[in-house]
Amino acid sequence: MHHFIAEAKKRIAPFPCEGFVVGSGDEDASIMLVGEAPGKTEVDTGAPFTGRAGKVLDEHLALAELTRKDVFITSVVRSRPYQVNGKRDKLGKLPNRAPSKKEIAAHAPFLDAQIRVVRPQLLVPLGNVGLRRLIGDRAKITVVHGKHLVQPILTYQDETYTFSSQRHELWPMFHPAATLHNPNLRPVVRQDWISFGEAIKAGLISGKGRSN
Ligand code: URA
Repeated sequence: MHHFIAEAKKRIAPFPCEGFVVGSGDEDASIMLVGEAPGKTEVDTGAPFTGRAGKVLDEHLALAELTRKDVFITSVVRSRPYQVNGKRDKLGKLPNRAPSKKEIAAHAPFLDAQIRVVRPQLLVPLGNVGLRRLIGDRAKITVVHGKHLVQPILTYQDETYTFSSQRHELWPMFHPAATLHNPNLRPVVRQDWISFGEAIKAGLISGKGRSN
């Protein structure tokens, strides 16, 4: 992994991003959560989902009777993208922004490597950025949230994305921050996580997925 981390740091260096959050959790986990990019808190703590969205994520995991120990948490981009022309906060930090295509590509080999190492049975993209990185730009979280998908995923090689020959299991979910921005989503998101927990109890996860 050291090689991939060094490479990812080098590839993100030209872009307005700061910090580097490797990911956290059990490398033997059956479930891998794929977020978007760290925010200010995550860059300070060095761990994913440790800010406001992280509190919501813990509540969502609890609805499925899961804890952070049951999952490996990573994200599409591992550094915090900031708005170069934004307004600085009290600590002089520029605001967060969504990662660009180039930033996503800069960290694509590292995400691919983590998926190969952890080999989760289920990939759980949180929001559109994670979803589209894994299954393409036409996917919409509003359409596939809370659904069990079995299909190839995008991997990045020679500066282009191609679909894997093997199929992977995915269970896309809304990003926890979505419910902070849009409280109307809360009942839907709660139900998605409750149903996810029920599916797990009913045998969705058959032990470590080794289909590839
Ligand atoms: N959003 C993410 O996608 N990841 C984090 O770690 C925090 C917020």
